[in-house]
Amino acid sequence: MTRAILAALNLLAVGQAAAAFELVPRATGSLDTWLTSETSVALDGVLDNIGASGAFTEGVIEGLVIASPSKVDPDYWYTWTRDSALTLKCLADIFVTGTDSDLESIIKEYINAQSVIQGVSNPSGDFSDGSGLGEPKFNVDETAFTGSWGRPQRDGPALRATAMITYANYLISNGDNSTARDIIWPIVKNDLAYVSQYWNDTTYDLWEETLGSSFFTTAVQHRALVEGNAFAESIGESCANCVSQAPQILCFLQSYWTGSYILSNFANNGRSGYDANSLLGVIHTFDPDASTCDDATFQPCSDKALANHKGVTDSFRDVFSLNANISAGSAVAVGRYPEDVYQGGNPWYLATTAAAEQLYDAIYQWKKIGSIDITSTSLAFFQAIYPSAATGTYSSDSTTFTDIVSAVQTYADGYMSIVEEYTPSDGTLTEQFQRDNGAPLSASALTWSYAALLTAAARRSSTVGGSWGSSNGNTVPSTCSATSATGSYTSATNTAWPTAPVSSTRPSCTAPTEVAVTFQEIVTTTFGENVYLTGNITALSSWSTTDAILLSAADYRSAYNLWYVTLTLPAGESLEYKFFKENDGTVTWEDDPNRVFTVPSDCGVSTACINDEWQ
Ligand SMILES: *[C@@H]1O[C@H](CO)[C@@H](O)[C@H](O)[C@H]1NC(C)=O
Ligand SMILES: *[C@@H]1O[C@H](CO)[C@@H](O)[C@H](O)[C@H]1NC(C)=O
Ligand SMILES: *[C@@H]1O[C@H](CO)[C@@H](O)[C@H](O)[C@H]1NC(C)=O
Ligand SMILES: *[C@@H]1O[C@H](CO)[C@@H](O)[C@H](O)[C@H]1NC(C)=O
Repeated sequence: MTRAILAALNLLAVGQAAAAFELVPRATGSLDTWLTSETSVALDGVLDNIGASGAFTEGVIEGLVIASPSKVDPDYWYTWTRDSALTLKCLADIFVTGTDSDLESIIKEYINAQSVIQGVSNPSGDFSDGSGLGEPKFNVDETAFTGSWGRPQRDGPALRATAMITYANYLISNGDNSTARDIIWPIVKNDLAYVSQYWNDTTYDLWEETLGSSFFTTAVQHRALVEGNAFAESIGESCANCVSQAPQILCFLQSYWTGSYILSNFANNGRSGYDANSLLGVIHTFDPDASTCDDATFQPCSDKALANHKGVTDSFRDVFSLNANISAGSAVAVGRYPEDVYQGGNPWYLATTAAAEQLYDAIYQWKKIGSIDITSTSLAFFQAIYPSAATGTYSSDSTTFTDIVSAVQTYADGYMSIVEEYTPSDGTLTEQFQRDNGAPLSASALTWSYAALLTAAARRSSTVGGSWGSSNGNTVPSTCSATSATGSYTSATNTAWPTAPVSSTRPSCTAPTEVAVTFQEIVTTTFGENVYLTGNITALSSWSTTDAILLSAADYRSAYNLWYVTLTLPAGESLEYKFFKENDGTVTWEDDPNRVFTVPSDCGVSTACINDEWQ
């Protein structure tokens, strides 16, 4: 949070009738300059959230990745299998490209921790039949989370296999086949068995809201089995179930294509299906060695993935007022899906970087393949950013190729510049930024936001990971079948690394002095009515009804009656508060009791978001 924003928030805290604060736009320097500093902040941000030596991980088991240091509003003080695996994949790629050797210890600690987590019985099931591997999140002490949750989530084991295989392939290419076989394969094998057995069962999506089938999940499952089998073969093992199931998963993957975009979920959720789910599915199955812009695996440069990119990103143009004055063909702030109301329904940093990353991937592929194909499916995508685009094939020695690549690069950089614009000057990344004013919102220091920034920045500079084998005989079967291959599950207990991981000590961590708290109240109002907040501390105007804090209705929608305000409050302060409606001097209070809240004071936390409903 910048000083300027804090000051603005403070003014509002004491002011009256204050609307949502205005974020003074920061002067944006060149994106290159910003990324140089931001990637360093982001890498530190990731490491701060990995136990046991991360600055924000007091009490977290070694090798576990917390989603965020935020323990209330929202409580993300858990380790998610998906977020952790995506994060470790990012770190493994950085390690393998040789730029940070310190990361190797963390990768080994993660692998050790996952060998234990695999065996923890939980509400999704247990280890004996593999069902427990679908559990989405665990407590930071490696015990099961037993509260109700959207479970199972069947992307986790696939992503974890992919992350570990990245490191295993590094070991193999450095001649250490035995470590890859004796320590990593036994863990990966369980995850591959899980995917082969359960891919055709319903799952919660990556946003943990929708039960059905999810493009992201299916796409990463296919990838995991293809590279899992290749990994097995390279160490003299095999994965027969990978071989039997991968083609059927690929077959099912085709069914998400609507004809003009990817329907992110087969589920009864009343949504359009435009969802950053599909952008993330595309970037996490990007194969730098793909020999064509393959539609079947939705490669980033495929005409289907590009048409989908336009569909998804356009779906946010009219939804966020942040995007109001942005012309078609320029980058916008991107959220999860246009119908989202979580925390008010806002742009997410990781969704906006995903929109950029797909395009950097596509540029990489066009250059590698040596041409750009514009088809009737992708024409609208190209015309939006390069109006004279026409269907055809443009070879890399043509000026059209050069011009299109340049237009796509500018367009992609636009997404990164939006992230830059709404990142506070200290570089910290929350989960979301507010849809009207761009203020950081929801969970502080979100590990996935940092990892997403790092992967997008790497692709922007053409730094890519290894191939997963997308071009190796992945032909789509002519008939799709509902199949499954039952596997066996064996505890992986070998953690005898030739060079044991060396944990560093946890740096000291200073608790925040102030936290930006967003109060959200769902309350139905009529024209002329306003909603105010007041409470028992000075910053909440000491129960005054005349000096109370006015909430903003900028995001009030008929389907979602949101009023909100963000205030900077002292960390650790306990308070009582209530909302009231006012119309022409008539005050209507909420019912008792008073609401209570304690502003968080956890290390690493800078924001909190309270979600209330009129009582
Ligand atoms: C299982 O696979 C069949 C064939 O592809 C498909 O029609 C069905 O929707 C799938 N179900 C789930 C839950 O994946
Ligand atoms: C390690 O595995 C690779 C890939 O299968 C193989 O080419 C290589 O010969 C193996 N190296 C050793 C030392 O066994
Ligand atoms: C869009 O333009 C209008 C008119 O110039 C202006 O009032 C508004 O603040 C702008 N919105 C954004 C998000 O820039
Ligand atoms: C406000 O209320 C909280 C919760 O009841 C209490 O802990 C705190 O001392 C009160 N603060 C003031 C200034 O009265």
